[in-house]
Amino acid sequence: MKEWYDSIKKAQSVDKLEEIRVAIFGKKGVLAAEFARMKSASDEEKAQIAKDLNTHKSSLMNELTARKIVLQTLELQEKMQAEAIDVSLYSTTSQAGGLHPVMETMDRIVEYFSAMNFAVKTGNMVEDDFNNFEALNLPKYHPARDMQDTFYFKDEMLLRTHTSPVQIRTMMSTKPPIRMIAPGAVFRRDYDLTHTPMFHQVEGLLVDEEGKVSFANLKYILEDFLKYMFGDVEVRFRPSFFPFTEPSAEVDISCVFCKGKGCRVCSKTGWLEVLGCGIVDPNVFEAVKYENVSGYAFGLGVERFAMLIHQIGDLRALFEGDIKLLEQFQ
Ligand code: PHE
Repeated sequence: MKEWYDSIKKAQSVDKLEEIRVAIFGKKGVLAAEFARMKSASDEEKAQIAKDLNTHKSSLMNELTARKIVLQTLELQEKMQAEAIDVSLYSTTSQAGGLHPVMETMDRIVEYFSAMNFAVKTGNMVEDDFNNFEALNLPKYHPARDMQDTFYFKDEMLLRTHTSPVQIRTMMSTKPPIRMIAPGAVFRRDYDLTHTPMFHQVEGLLVDEEGKVSFANLKYILEDFLKYMFGDVEVRFRPSFFPFTEPSAEVDISCVFCKGKGCRVCSKTGWLEVLGCGIVDPNVFEAVKYENVSGYAFGLGVERFAMLIHQIGDLRALFEGDIKLLEQFQ
């Protein structure tokens, strides 16, 4: 029997151990043979042999089980070592991306007005003449349409020239009061240092009961907003004209490049124009069938904000996908 104990101890694999188990405990195994031989012994001897054999049987089984646990553990360790992945391995090919500066700027603008309780609305990039012009007090053949030449489709459809049609769509589908912004892409026939055929605007509209909305409200929120975006700048309002607001104003900030001293970017004026705004024209309310209300509206170009915040000289650079520029915004 001793050699069987030895062979269990020496077994080097679970498979080998299984072979040994069959050789000892199997139908044709050694134990079966020993028990068979017992038959020819005398009755006294039988009892003793049976006792011995049963003792061996259970201790061989214990040895097998113990050895199996050891071998299984070893084999598992070996397998895990062979399959291990070195997660610390350094790779030069992984690169983190970043938000495009225009989107990052847009997010910041939306963040400000969301915090001020303005709902975010979207409209259609392919608009109809009514929403883009007519309802905004820009009747057909009005000369002001010239400032926003665009791309036309059949049936008076066009690529929207500003986000202002979202004002109309929102008022047509909701009752006042309204407190909304509309970020999105707009299109114009333009292409130079400061204009691209596609750019982004954020529109704002607030409507409440007649007499509740004043130019002072508008002035306050825009000043606060511009300081949030540009830091410590001066803000000034200049009388201007938009068909859909009356009175209207354009808003300037002190030049972020020269701090108002006068430079090439601000054409030596010390000021940079950043948005248009005004008190909603009664004709607009009439077009959407609103009565006894007052409101203010404003609109701004997101690319212009991004250029001023990041001091980018040429607007077109934002759309060329130049990796050298974009990498700076990771
Ligand atoms: N829609 C105007 C533009 O694109 C901006 C604007 C919006 C001005 C709302 C006043 C009020 O130039």
